[in-house]
Amino acid sequence: MAAATATGLTDPDVDRGRAFIGLDEPIPLAAGRAGRYINLDNAATTPPLRAVADAVQQALLCYGSVHRGAGYKARMSTAAYESARTAVGAFVGADPATHTVIFVKNTTEAINKLANRLPMPAGAVVLTTMLEHHSNDLPWRRRASVVRVRCTPDGQLDEDDFDRQLAGHAGRIALVAVSAASNVTGLVQPIHRLARKAHAVGAPIFVDAAQLVAHRRLDIRKQDDPEHIDFVAFSGHKMYAPFGTGVLIGPRTTFRSGAPDAVGGGTVHTVSEDDVTWADVPDREEAGTPNAIGAIALAAAARTLSAWGFEALAAHETALAAYARARVGAVPGATIYGEPVRGAAPDRVGVVPFNLATADHALVAAVLGYEAGIGVRNGCFCAQLYVAHLLGLPRDPTAHVRVTGALRPGMVRISLGAYNTRDEVDAAVEVISHIANGRLTGRYRRTSDEEYAPF
Ligand SMILES: Cc1ncc(COP(=O)(O)O)c(C=O)c1O
Repeated sequence: MAAATATGLTDPDVDRGRAFIGLDEPIPLAAGRAGRYINLDNAATTPPLRAVADAVQQALLCYGSVHRGAGYKARMSTAAYESARTAVGAFVGADPATHTVIFVKNTTEAINKLANRLPMPAGAVVLTTMLEHHSNDLPWRRRASVVRVRCTPDGQLDEDDFDRQLAGHAGRIALVAVSAASNVTGLVQPIHRLARKAHAVGAPIFVDAAQLVAHRRLDIRKQDDPEHIDFVAFSGHKMYAPFGTGVLIGPRTTFRSGAPDAVGGGTVHTVSEDDVTWADVPDREEAGTPNAIGAIALAAAARTLSAWGFEALAAHETALAAYARARVGAVPGATIYGEPVRGAAPDRVGVVPFNLATADHALVAAVLGYEAGIGVRNGCFCAQLYVAHLLGLPRDPTAHVRVTGALRPGMVRISLGAYNTRDEVDAAVEVISHIANGRLTGRYRRTSDEEYAPF
């Protein structure tokens, strides 16, 4: 594998300006200045790949109804949509003989669908963790008792507690639902080891791979492998494809039983006045006309990432994240969260959550955004339980916000992608150091419980 280049990508043939769109677009900054946008918010949304835009452009030339026409463009669009489905399944090693690939609008919709479709007998437990995004917690609450595996004080998954909870609830666990990588600390979970343990007590496992698939190879493995992943979901907009498409992959048998959660056009085989027979999977799970262009975009991103190779991507991002962690950690008064107090450095995707002693998270994000054109995220990142734990707050960190109107507790998050460079990290650290040293240039007012804007 070629050595890392100044472009930020490890393949010298893949120059960042050629591989991505819009990275160096000029943007307006505070006080009438202009600058270049630096995106250090990849855990939220990634910029699009040029290969994705090209695939979309190509598909638009032959754009027609999907699954509903004998016309040439309808047939071409249907073929492109189904070929996207095959490519996305192959991207995570799904076996087409056993698994179905269902296109949805994002990871959140995928998890809600699974929560609606998975049989949950009375008294069923979903075993999840304290590290989850709300999207991998709230949907389960509607259908089952949710039991959350604890974190260690330094924010790692407490696998001893996982084992205890698994044993304690064995026989009632309808599903183990874990994220593959945290959107707060980037910690990568040992999903295959957890899968083996879940299967040993007869429980299937769902993996929320929203934060993993753009950064590490995910292979869900064959169903006869004790470490296989039963269900997986992810979103296109976190893997260099645009918004609007996600995917849920799981055993065909699960989705063949019972009725679909959303019904209407495309989901049926026959309809009489008082009866209906459902179409086969995946059609019965994709009510209405699908977002074929979104699926084609997601597949193009998957193909590009696979072609670049995850070893190269992970090597680049791990080195850059270590650099960012060291540089931010050296800023006076900075605290980085999720750092292990002992043991070897855990596997992490490129997420660096931090706070400064002298300025709250909303102000740091506002100054970076308005004055330096650097996009980061601040707040609780839709993971309030985990953020509260890392901050050492009570279980409901927003209770006092609701009562007092105080700023919502939170953190600043730098999150890195394949194209980011040390120069971009340096630019952010320079601004963060200025803030830490009290050298603010602009004046800011609070506009919500987690945002500031310039006066
Ligand atoms: C770990 C994780 N799961 C789920 C989601 C939800 O993804 P989406 O907003 O695409 O549904 C996110 C989004 O940040 C996430 O980070």
